Amino acid sequence: TCIDTPELGKLRIMLNTLLAVNELGRIVALVEGGGGNEGIQTYLTKMGDRAKEVTIHRLGSQEFLFPGLVDTHLHAPQYVFTGTGGDTPLLEWLEKYTFPQESRFKDLNHAQHVYERCVRRLLRNGTTTAAYFATMHVPATKVLADTMLRLGQRGWVGKVCMDANSPAFLRETHKEALEGTREIVSYIQSLDTPLLRPCVTPRFAISCADETLRSLGNLASTMSLPVQSHLSENKGECEAVRQLFPNHANYTDVYHETGLLGPSTVMAHCIHLSQEEKKVIKATGTGISHCPGSNFSLRSGILNVRSLLQQNIPVGLGTDVSGGYGTSIMGTMREAITASRLLHALSEERGEKETLESLTLEEVLYLATLGGAGIMGLAKEVGSFEVGKSLDVLRVNLGADLGGGDVAVDTFGQDGPREKLEKWVNLGDDRTLTHVWVSGKLVHTTLENEAGTRIK
Ligand code: GUN
Ligand code: FE
Repeated sequence: TCIDTPELGKLRIMLNTLLAVNELGRIVALVEGGGGNEGIQTYLTKMGDRAKEVTIHRLGSQEFLFPGLVDTHLHAPQYVFTGTGGDTPLLEWLEKYTFPQESRFKDLNHAQHVYERCVRRLLRNGTTTAAYFATMHVPATKVLADTMLRLGQRGWVGKVCMDANSPAFLRETHKEALEGTREIVSYIQSLDTPLLRPCVTPRFAISCADETLRSLGNLASTMSLPVQSHLSENKGECEAVRQLFPNHANYTDVYHETGLLGPSTVMAHCIHLSQEEKKVIKATGTGISHCPGSNFSLRSGILNVRSLLQQNIPVGLGTDVSGGYGTSIMGTMREAITASRLLHALSEERGEKETLESLTLEEVLYLATLGGAGIMGLAKEVGSFEVGKSLDVLRVNLGADLGGGDVAVDTFGQDGPREKLEKWVNLGDDRTLTHVWVSGKLVHTTLENEAGTRIK
């Protein structure tokens, strides 16, 4: 069974499917109903001599394949303190926890240790693509890129730029921000891998001088690089931006006017945007990373995803490690549903004429896969099952024994594939993921014997 969401709100369940992958990790055949002995034989016969090189994996009745999950916003160095620090809102949290922790990444041993653990954990959680903020340190940022490449994860790597309103122990000059970014760009390009892209990463408007934002915008457009940052996460932050950038119409305009918005830009949070700002986001094709777990933990607010989707603004999901305590996009899907149900309840309570519709299972599955891939410019490469796409895929086993609930127990013997999928989203975790592939390469497995059956 292959399950995906080829468009927003649409669930596709392909039963008894034959999925063939070539040596480059590309999907070369997808035949619904072709997964039985006969279908496999027909396919092998067509391959002729090359059938000898084929390895076959057969899935059991409690298993299905699902596209790899996409985390469109997180901070790899903050993996160190996931699960702590929920006692303060954003700006205090940055000063108290984040900046001191990030300053430790001038130590390369520390960077190696943490980045290895972080990337492994995400792969195990089924995150095949991730958009990472590193720290401002160039050598440690290279370590993050090396680690992703070695462990086989796809994604963006950003050297964080911060030359204003930051503590002396974690602040660089304009020149260092620019030259450091250029150095990371050429380093990642020299790795010559289709998995990684360098990303222009101003931390947020507060931590960059106007001219730095402008230079970074220039760099992104002349070199066709993606951009990531934070926008309108917290009311105190929005107020500080108003004071620091009095000549700009609003927070969104700070990024727009400095050339940082566009179809390869991902802005995290975007909770408190005005309608005018949303229009600019929409017109520029900028994507939004919805990070509900972080927004709950830091009490930032609740993003109205429904209104963005109604305006066709592209959205993906992010854990925002470690604003929130979760490292799994499965958890983020649940948080996104909870956030939207809470908004629904609040709008009903206020007696609003049109109550907000909560997000559906189908919608959050899309945001976690193809939606996320879309805002990272990867919709043609990953996020769903299509011939020509890369095999960035999870093998899910619902027979896994889970502490929080037994996914495989059938509701009155009547569970169809959709009910099983719903149980997986609501009750499942990494224990249900027996195999994780990126670009056809097995990057995580819980099983010792995962080699499949060789054709004799
Ligand atoms: N805004 C600026 N820096 C950060 C960060 O590290 N985390 C979050 N959640 N928001 C930010
Ligand atoms: Fe963040």
